[in-house]
Amino acid sequence: MADKTLGIEPKLYEYLQLVSVREPSILKELRQETANHPMARMQIAPEQGQLLALLVQLIGAEKTLELGVFKGYSSLAVALAIPEKGKVIACDISEEYTAIARHYWDKAGVSHKIDLRIAPALETLDKLMAEGQSNTFDFAFIDADKSNYDSYYEQVLKLVRPGGLIAIDNVLWGGKVADKNIQDNLTKKMRALNEKIYKDSRVNISLIPIADGLTLLLKR
Ligand SMILES: C[S@@+](CC[C@H](N)C(=O)[O-])C[C@H]1O[C@@H](n2cnc3c(N)ncnc32)[C@H](O)[C@@H]1O
Repeated sequence: MADKTLGIEPKLYEYLQLVSVREPSILKELRQETANHPMARMQIAPEQGQLLALLVQLIGAEKTLELGVFKGYSSLAVALAIPEKGKVIACDISEEYTAIARHYWDKAGVSHKIDLRIAPALETLDKLMAEGQSNTFDFAFIDADKSNYDSYYEQVLKLVRPGGLIAIDNVLWGGKVADKNIQDNLTKKMRALNEKIYKDSRVNISLIPIADGLTLLLKR
């Protein structure tokens, strides 16, 4: 839920983008289309999409999972980066948002790699587990409703294979997690999850201050 990297001075941010963001034209088109949408800030930043693409390529991911599709930016970035036989199981509850996503997946020629599941993500995750798909995913990106993040984390940790990678978005929550005076429900939940992950011996971690904060977790 941040379409740019926060906490970086604008001139430096512009430079960072100028010398490092190689956004594919189809992603640029999608980002430009979303720019005027009232919820545009839900879309991940271009440098973040590029990082996800690099990560899935680094680990040779084929079977991937996404919670929170919106208009399809992150799923498209990942689908473009995985091999032809790769898959993104993409979870969202919105037909409206994902109709745009489908259009761009088609246009990019990657629809065959994306399996969109319209249902609350927890239901889809339960189904995948019931089908015996635990320990089979190479990569998962968690970016759906923040109120369920802890449950998403627990379920996704079961579905990802040992040595697989999980990326959790918005862990810096606009900086609110660091301000003890802010005690609303979502901020408290994000803070608690960050603290839990810090102590969690099931994973190796790194919190990258990109966009709104992205925690990377390697499942041991
Ligand atoms: C931050 S946006 C995702 C942004 C997306 N990753 C991108 O790159 O543009 C969060 C999405 O989560 C979806 N969502 C909200 N509650 C959900 C739920 N219970 N299960 C699945 N998706 C949900 C919303 O419809 C919204 O599209």
